[in-house]
Amino acid sequence: MFENGKYIINDKKFKIFISKEEISQIVNNLAAKITNDYQNKEIIFVLTLKGSLFFAADLIRQIPLDCSIEVISAKSYGSEMETSGNVKIVNLLPEIENKHVLIIEDIVDSGLTIQTLFDKISISKPASLSAVTLLSKPSMRKVEVDVQYVGKDIPPEFVIGYGLDFDEKGRQLPDIYVLDSE
Ligand code: PRP
Repeated sequence: MFENGKYIINDKKFKIFISKEEISQIVNNLAAKITNDYQNKEIIFVLTLKGSLFFAADLIRQIPLDCSIEVISAKSYGSEMETSGNVKIVNLLPEIENKHVLIIEDIVDSGLTIQTLFDKISISKPASLSAVTLLSKPSMRKVEVDVQYVGKDIPPEFVIGYGLDFDEKGRQLPDIYVLDSE
């Protein structure tokens, strides 16, 4: 719920961090780059639920290329605010050999989720395998990963909204919020 402009979940206060207008600009820029890079190629978008739900929906609709959409579930956080380091993936991908796979993430933090996905998907020999993420926390990496398309680098602070959650709450917010330390 909102109180004095702050969004409150389980006694924690969150303040606005990235407006929906800025998000929209970031998504537009990413969509333009991807459209340019994948001309005459057919893309399989792989959505990592649940966090990438809104980002993927907005991004994909701005890429006027032939594509198909697959979803997988990747879970690395518990109810705490730090990555657990334990990545569970439910993989429901169809045949991807010789196809261009683009993973869509909401955030890359430690890098463990995206690395696990790269490792698992590359076994099936796609023609290409890349990733796009709305947000990235470069200072939090535990593993070095090559994420081709990054919307915005952010400091190592806890963020919610536009798909991102705290204890499964806050995903529905149109803007992105950060934990308020005051
Ligand atoms: C979040 C996010 C990424 C991952 C990033 O997912 O959506 O998939 O964590 O963290 P990492 O780089 O440290 O691996 P989460 O496990 O919270 O699941 P969710 O998408 O259902 O919220």
